[in-house]
Amino acid sequence: MKKVWSMLLVVGTISMSVHAYDQTDRIKDMQEMETAMAQIQKGILYNNQKLVIDGVAQLKKASINIEIAPKEAMDFSSRFAKRQSENIMKYADKIQKNIEENHKHGASTNYANVMRECISCHNKIRKWN
Ligand code: HEC
Repeated sequence: MKKVWSMLLVVGTISMSVHAYDQTDRIKDMQEMETAMAQIQKGILYNNQKLVIDGVAQLKKASINIEIAPKEAMDFSSRFAKRQSENIMKYADKIQKNIEENHKHGASTNYANVMRECISCHNKIRKWN
């Protein structure tokens, strides 16, 4: 029985460390989102639907992680981060819909909406310089 408990503890510890979202992961996701945003902008300007759609997919893949950052490891509330993440996903979907319907103005408005979410979190970060 003791052996089982210690096994469970090991498994638990491993899975916790696998899921821990640290600063390195965060910076990686942030850089991914920055690249994705640049690609979306490029796609809108070059009239290249595929660039936009690929950028939206990359943006969503990275931004979905924002919510799993543990509260104690962040200098902003995890609830706030989750809401930001949801908003980014929502606007990303709108960009895709806009571009598929060839509404570049709509795409650029929703692009700016995503950017607003990025900035509003960055503004809340105490150590941001
Ligand atoms: C919920 C909060 C939050 C949101 C939303 C957010 N960021 Fe960040 N971002 C951070 C934090 C925290 C850092 C790290 C700050 C530090 O340690 O200096 C960061 C850093 C960055 C950096 C710098 C990375 C580096 O290499 O230093 C970039 C670029 C960035 N974010 C892009 C974005 C983009 C693009 C979006 C929107 C699509 C976004 N962020 C949305 C919290 C957020």
